[in-house]
Amino acid sequence: MAPIIQTHHLTHRFADGTLALDAVSLDFNAGELTVIAGANGSGKTTLLRHLNGLLMAQSGDVRVCGRSVRDDPLAARQAVGMVFQDADSQIVGETVYDDTAFGPENLGLDREAIDRRVNQALSAVDLVGLENKRPHHLSGGQKRRLAIAGVLAMQPRVLLMDEPFSNLDFPATCRVLERILDLHRQGHTIIITTHDLEKVIAHARRLVVMAKGRVVSDGIPEAVVAGIAQYGIRPPCSVQLGKGIQPWVS
Ligand SMILES: Nc1ncnc2c1ncn2[C@@H]1O[C@H](COP(=O)(O)OP(=O)(O)OP(=O)(O)O)[C@@H](O)[C@H]1O
Ligand SMILES: [Mg+2]
Repeated sequence: MAPIIQTHHLTHRFADGTLALDAVSLDFNAGELTVIAGANGSGKTTLLRHLNGLLMAQSGDVRVCGRSVRDDPLAARQAVGMVFQDADSQIVGETVYDDTAFGPENLGLDREAIDRRVNQALSAVDLVGLENKRPHHLSGGQKRRLAIAGVLAMQPRVLLMDEPFSNLDFPATCRVLERILDLHRQGHTIIITTHDLEKVIAHARRLVVMAKGRVVSDGIPEAVVAGIAQYGIRPPCSVQLGKGIQPWVS
């Protein structure tokens, strides 16, 4: 089967001259859970923003389901949902309910279907009971969970999660991790960026490492973590203790 997402020599230079992506060629297969790690500024967010058409390739190419994102950015945005690193920038609704309903409403679904999707999404991230609250009044962790609910309600095939655990306390991290793994088990393709490998790496079959806009390592986590410290990424504790990759919570 052809990869669900393909980038080919993807390069992006911002207006101030920063080369954020430098000839990135990656294929992502349907149903896989991939972790992309890299130090601050290595290009992770910029890469994800190209995968769902928020940024367009300046040179090189991005394909989603075989189709160039440049030709059909709308289709890419429907197939590929993104949970932003900055949860505030993802808030669009006046209330938690409206915010989660925004995507399904734009898909033109009927009221009953919208209601069902919103309820499912909010219960998945444990925000039931806060439907009428103003999103800007939520805590940082609650905002992140709301952002995840908004993307879940769209039921995309591919989920991009940009630092999904930042700002979350221990129970919320467990819940979000569990939800990500559920989605993966249901067949979703999931791409997670992080510089904190600890929480998720045991569940990934592939680890991609970025540095200065380039892919510098790509393979099974057991092999890739060995040399990861040189790129400014902290190896998981279990690896440092010589126990290999172990689940974060057992
Ligand atoms: N809008 C922009 N204009 C100019 N430079 C930018 C812009 N957005 C990002 N950059 C630069 O591009 C590079 C890659 O940034 P990016 O946000 O993709 O990194 P990242 O790996 O996601 O980092 P972090 O771990 O801090 O989230 C950085 O050098 C950053 O300063
Ligand atoms: Mg980032």
